[in-house]
Amino acid sequence: MEKDLGSYRKNYKKHALLKKNIPENPMELFQKWFYAADEDHCVEEANIVNLATVGSDNFPKSRIVLLKRFTWEGFIFYTNYNSEKGKSIAKNPNVCLTFFWHSIERQIIIKGIAEKIAENLSDGYFESRPDGSKLGAWASHQSEVIDSRTSLDKKLTYYENKFKEMEIPRPDYWGGYIVKPISIEFWQGRPNRMHDRLRYTLQENYDWKLERLEP
Ligand SMILES: Cc1cc2nc3c(=O)[nH]c(=O)nc-3n(C[C@H](O)[C@H](O)[C@H](O)COP(=O)(O)O)c2cc1C
Repeated sequence: MEKDLGSYRKNYKKHALLKKNIPENPMELFQKWFYAADEDHCVEEANIVNLATVGSDNFPKSRIVLLKRFTWEGFIFYTNYNSEKGKSIAKNPNVCLTFFWHSIERQIIIKGIAEKIAENLSDGYFESRPDGSKLGAWASHQSEVIDSRTSLDKKLTYYENKFKEMEIPRPDYWGGYIVKPISIEFWQGRPNRMHDRLRYTLQENYDWKLERLEP
């Protein structure tokens, strides 16, 4: 099988990213870009983000998760702490988040350190989820091998009965991580591959150093 994709080519020309127009703190720029993506009718879920971790086999692995909150401190997503990503983060908390919003021709790459958030915050978010998602968190031992779909459905039925007519508690293996950024790179597509790339890097005194990178 073979398909040549050499002629697939798009020229990016919607916006520019210039140092004179941007804030000192990258979280402010993140917020501005996030809102722009969220308001763009072509972006279905602006909070979709690619999360890369480094496994104990020393290979990177990335997968999509949903960003559920951002603050001055960092970026929060929820998952199963015993999943492959959870185990990787326990050994090596250095992670990378990548957003790409095609319709506005923007990418953001965040390197950071992942930490579990406080249990009461995970409780609060878990409580806000629909019952079906809460039961799913109980039924799925995320990233474990399972023999069939039927086995998974049986586990779900088991928890549906177990928690019938009662508040569904948060499993202790499920909760949030916050990724505290050490660098945030903003990429704006420009014509002829002469893209704008501005990278903020956190300094020891907690100021952000701003540098332009070649495209
Ligand atoms: C659109 C989309 C949203 C997802 N959101 C999450 C999420 O918020 N948390 C999560 O644990 N997995 C989420 N997943 C599933 C992950 O991509 C992945 O399959 C799962 O977390 C297991 O990854 P791991 O085995 O590398 O730990 C999402 C997948 C997609 C396609």
